[in-house]
Parts: sequence; structure tokens; C-alpha cells
Amino acid sequence: MATTLITGGTVVTSTGRAEADVLIDGERIVAVLARGSVLLGTDLTAGVDTVIDATGKYVIPGGIDAHTHMSLPFGGTAASDNFETGTRAAAWGGTTTIIDFAVQTHGQKVQDGLATWHGMAAGQCAIDYAFHQIVGDVNPESLLALRGLPDEGISSYKMFMAYPGVFYSDDAQILRAMQVAADTGMMTMMHAENGPAIDVLVEQLLAQGKTDPYYHGVARAWQMEEEATHRAIMLANLTGAPLYVVHVSAKQAVEQLAAARDNGQNVFGETCPQYLYLSLEDQLGASSDEWGNFEGAKWVCSTPLRSKEEGHQHHMWQSLRTNDIQMVSTDHCPFCMKGQKDLGLGDFSKIPNGIGSVEHRMDLLYQGVVDGQISLERWVEITSTTPARMFGLYGKKGVIQPGADADIVVYDPNGHTSIGYPVDKDGKPTGRSHHMNMDHSAWEGYEIDGHVDTVLSRGKVVVTDRQYVGQKGDGQFVRRGLSQYLI
Ligand code: URP
Ligand code: ZN
Ligand code: ZN
Ligand code: ZN
Repeated sequence: MATTLITGGTVVTSTGRAEADVLIDGERIVAVLARGSVLLGTDLTAGVDTVIDATGKYVIPGGIDAHTHMSLPFGGTAASDNFETGTRAAAWGGTTTIIDFAVQTHGQKVQDGLATWHGMAAGQCAIDYAFHQIVGDVNPESLLALRGLPDEGISSYKMFMAYPGVFYSDDAQILRAMQVAADTGMMTMMHAENGPAIDVLVEQLLAQGKTDPYYHGVARAWQMEEEATHRAIMLANLTGAPLYVVHVSAKQAVEQLAAARDNGQNVFGETCPQYLYLSLEDQLGASSDEWGNFEGAKWVCSTPLRSKEEGHQHHMWQSLRTNDIQMVSTDHCPFCMKGQKDLGLGDFSKIPNGIGSVEHRMDLLYQGVVDGQISLERWVEITSTTPARMFGLYGKKGVIQPGADADIVVYDPNGHTSIGYPVDKDGKPTGRSHHMNMDHSAWEGYEIDGHVDTVLSRGKVVVTDRQYVGQKGDGQFVRRGLSQYLI
């Protein structure tokens, strides 16, 4: 088995930082050796196959993005990244594990939906991957299948209080599923928005001729998110099921989560980079020469971007500091403008919902460290360690310690990353500056005061010297245990 030594760097974990070298044997970390300890004077590099010099850099556990949607069918099209392109982009950005959502559609067996996702991902991935299960049709058969999922290494499932006629479940269905989850210990993940009420507002706005992407944000008002979040919390409280609310964007929803947590309930919340940085006014309301007021379609996602005047973004950073929100995933669900987002020209409700960010999460959150929003350790915690604990991967993933998979990122705090499509003096793009399969970037123009230098996936270098050197099929399916984060 090949051995690798990452030397000279500062190892950062969720609990602290140390000047230490990391020794890897094959796929695993075998030692974390503090410099200046009894080993002083020993030439650790002797006999090691590969030495990676991390002098002046951070050595962190690889990112875990617990919310992606490769190839998700949505709104008459499908997310533009498949498992090959999406996981390669993730690797470029320092993410070494994704947890994607297998989908059971209406009328389909849960097992068949899961088999489809296994079929799409197997042999395609650049990094390790796991699945949550979307349960889109609650009935006695699917409830029985749900009970069996932990044996398949799938310990969490997602339900939708939104999207009537597609993924939507009513309160009775949610209650029944949560009863199974309470029995089995599975994590219930909830898309918490009041879908039926939103649909009324959508219909009324369109009837008034309000068809621009901006009105997607108006229809999906924060009250719709707060109300659904509260309802989900109460159903979880009644059944005893652990609850994880996905893509939280409204500060009022955070307050609901915080109150339930103060009450001792196993309730957790995830936010996404878009809810930390982007807004209803600046992005959903954007216009351009090319697209006019339809420019905002690039940022149509649900829950929607919130008003900066109302201060949701500021509040979300604070919630990350106070642990009212526990972690950050991307909800990576990319669609191109041409041929996909443009299905909603003249009717915002037909714009496929989703933003692509899987490549940029580690960088965007690192910028939060530079800007003084979060500490270096908290960066590691919310992007890697907590996702691992929340979804039953901790020990194998999310930490740098002997026995863990050697999923490691060498991050350069003196490097720089320009995101998006830079343009020359004539306004022409100078080349791709991201690796997701999208014809635009939701993050164009973002400048990061840091850079992903080297990425190892289970001991194998997959990104180095600004090159991808891995192969499709490097990534394996990872079976997950029950959550290690419960109170
Ligand atoms: O807009 C979004 N979030 N698209 C993906 C599907 C979902 O609800 O997570
Ligand atoms: Zn959702
Ligand atoms: Zn999602
Ligand atoms: Zn800069």
C-alpha cells in the first residue's frame, strides 16, 4: 500500500488547530504527528512514497456536502450535472463526499427509486457518495420500505410540504412516516414550505401579470416557511422523530428551530451559501442586457432568496455562530439558462428550481472566516464534521485522526479564487472558471481570499497544481449509520 505524508501544515479540526504532519497508509490516516514532539529530529519523509508540502497551509478534513441533486428530474427537465460532472466539480472545490437524494416518485416503489440512483452513480463518481431517500408517495408499502432503509446504509429520508402534485406529502402522510422514523431512529429531512398556500399566491400573481423571477420570492413568503417549519417541529415533537429542516432561509424559521432546540427537541437546521450571501433584491430582482428581468431566473430556488432589507442573511451568519443552524450544504441542483431555466420565460412558476454551488461551498464559507463571520474551526465543523455526525459518517469521514479515511484538503490561505466567468475588456468570457455543467455561474464575480490546493480522496490525490488528476469511478458508495448528533 502506498504511503503519503502531508508535512509542514496546520491541521485544523472542529475542536482546534495544531502544527502536525499527517501520515497516510493506503486509504486511511495512520498517524497525526505533532511537530516538535518526541519525534523531533526523526526524518518522517524517509521511506514514504509521496510527500505533500503543506507549509503555510491548512490541512482539513474533506468537505461533506449533505444535500445535492445530480440529474434530478424537475419541471420537465433534469439537473444539468450528472454524477460524473457534479462529483468532479465537487472534488475541484475540496468536497470529498456528497450525500445525494434518491427519488421515489408517485406510484413508484421506494426500492425502485433507490435502484435507479444506484445505477446512475455507480462507477461514475470522482469522490465518495451516499444517499438520502426522497419519499414522494407515502402508502403502506412505502412505509414498510422506509423501515428497511437503514439496512441499506440509508439512515435519512426527505419529505416535502411543498410542490403539490409532485413530491408533496400532506400532514397525515408526514405523521405516518415520522412514526416509522421514531421507531427506527432515522432522520426526517423536511422541505418546510406551505406548498398549497404558495400555489394560491402563484396563481394570483400570474393573473396580475407578475411573471418575472422576482415574484417567485414574493409568492414563497417567509410566513410560508415559518409556518411549515413550526408544523414539522410539532409533528416531530408528537412522534419523537428527529427532524432536520433543509435549506433554511428565513430568520423566522431559524427562530422556530432555536425554540425547539432550547426545549430539548432533536431538531436541526441546514442553510446554504445562497442564503448567506444572495438576496431577493440583488439576484432574484436582477436584470441584464441578455435576459432583461429574466436574469433573476439564475437564482430561482426553493426556499427562495430572502430580502436583504429584512436582514435574513445577517441573521443566518449569526445562527451559524450560535449553532441555531448546525451546518451548510449546497442543495446543488443546477440548470442551464438556455433550454432549462428559459422554460419559465413569461411564467416564473415554470422555471426549474435550483442553484449550482457544489464546487464553491468550501471557498464561500472560508470567505466567512476571512470576513470574521466564523472561526477557522467552525468552518471545518459546519462543512465537514457536523455533516458527518448528523448523517452517520463520523469517524470514517469528517475528522483527521488515525483510522479515518484519508479524505483531506490542503487549503492555501494565501491563495486566491475568482469564481464565475471572468470577461476580457470586450466583455467576452476568458474561459471556464468553474467545472459544473452549467452555462452560467450563480457566483460570478465572487472573489475568495483562499484556494483549494490539493485534494485527497481516500488517500489518492485527485486535485493538485490546478489540475484534476482523478478518474471517474474513484468514488464509492458509502453506507451510513444512524445520526451521531442526537441530544
Ligand atoms: O430549489 C431547489 N431547492 N431545488 C431542489 C429541490 C429541493 O427542493 O431541494
Ligand atoms: Zn427541498
Ligand atoms: Zn434539495
Ligand atoms: Zn481577494
